[in-house]
Amino acid sequence: MSQTLTVVKHPLVQHKLTLMRDVKTPSSKFRQLLGEITQLLAYEATRDLPLEMREIDTPLQSMESPVLAGKKLALVSILRAGNGMLDSLLHLIPSARVGFVGLYRDEETLRPVQYYFKVPEALADRDALVVDPMLATGNSSVAAIDLLKEAGATRIRFLCLLAAPEGVARMEEAHPDVPVITAALDERLSDVGYILPGLGDAGDRMFGTK
Ligand code: URA
Repeated sequence: MSQTLTVVKHPLVQHKLTLMRDVKTPSSKFRQLLGEITQLLAYEATRDLPLEMREIDTPLQSMESPVLAGKKLALVSILRAGNGMLDSLLHLIPSARVGFVGLYRDEETLRPVQYYFKVPEALADRDALVVDPMLATGNSSVAAIDLLKEAGATRIRFLCLLAAPEGVARMEEAHPDVPVITAALDERLSDVGYILPGLGDAGDRMFGTK
């Protein structure tokens, strides 16, 4: 459907996602599975990061060997559910810099309003991975990426666990340069903006709130 959408259909991802969808899965297991899937999504999302050669000494001889090129990556979590993906990403890319974007929905205008924004410096020189488990209407993701671009980011990838067709279309319209990497493209949005069949409210499920 989309030029920028990658659905990671790896069997491990699909198996773990089924466990996450199941209403009987407790918060502790939900968080663990989200971390595991995030690492597998990140493996896919980062496969074309540029490398440069570095001279090193093995115990036996010198060699030229590849390392990630350029400035350290920026990982940006969209609060609060994005934080459920952040730790496992940091395990995979421990040198990354971290940013946070906080948005709430104005109940009158239904538009996202920024309440927190703290991102690494020199965003223009970094690859940025933006995380939020649920790409539903796309309103908050688009708004977060608007803010990151205003702050200078030019190379952005968006990682989510589930995407609705409506959210993917909205992202593609607003930010066609941003690849979206997800574990599943679900059927549609409910009348109140939940992804169907989905997994419920990702933040509530990971933090045990309701
Ligand atoms: N956010 C969620 O947590 N779940 C949805 O289904 C949609 C948005």
